[in-house]
Amino acid sequence: MIYIFTKNRPMSTPVLALGRSVFGDPANKGNLPHLEDAHALLAEWVPNERLRLHMKQVAAVMKAWALEREGADELTARKWELAGLLHDADWEKYPEAHCRIIIEKLEEMNVDPDVIHTIASHGPKHFGVEPETKMDKMIYVFDELSGFIHAAALIRPTRYEGMDVKSILKKLKTASFAAQVSRDDINDALSRIDTPLEEIIQFVIDHQKDVV
Ligand SMILES: [Fe+2]
Repeated sequence: MIYIFTKNRPMSTPVLALGRSVFGDPANKGNLPHLEDAHALLAEWVPNERLRLHMKQVAAVMKAWALEREGADELTARKWELAGLLHDADWEKYPEAHCRIIIEKLEEMNVDPDVIHTIASHGPKHFGVEPETKMDKMIYVFDELSGFIHAAALIRPTRYEGMDVKSILKKLKTASFAAQVSRDDINDALSRIDTPLEEIIQFVIDHQKDVV
């Protein structure tokens, strides 16, 4: 969850804990929607272009991480990509039931339970679902940081060009910059993986800079 693109909305939109820990049906393992269908769902549910871009950026970073860092095969990489692409799909239309609605939709569509669990655990403090798999942990790591780095790009005349890790680290320490991004969540997410923040920031810059 990331609120950068929602400046017109109240920052404290209530979010419901999901109250469950099992998602999807194990019989649906490997069952993934076509990317075109996922994009069509976004087009229907997410009129806000910045929010759609956020999801496309997280999707690109997730897919790249799966392929480059986890040695994932094509099907697995598509799971990572779809989780990124759909994780906030219900946020604009159903802010009071964010996460629950997209989960129910994906369950109806018989989508692979791994993808649904990753979406359910992308904000453990909000949804009450702990990240378990590496895919769960990485979406939690990337979600806030991706939005934060994009916010930093938007205030630079050259956007991503020439952006360095040091400037992002400095902005993270500046509480007033993108104040709605929870530094606590970023630290909590990072504490669950072995990769240092600097490396994650560089990875995000490299893989979301060309997403449009
Ligand atoms: Fe998000």
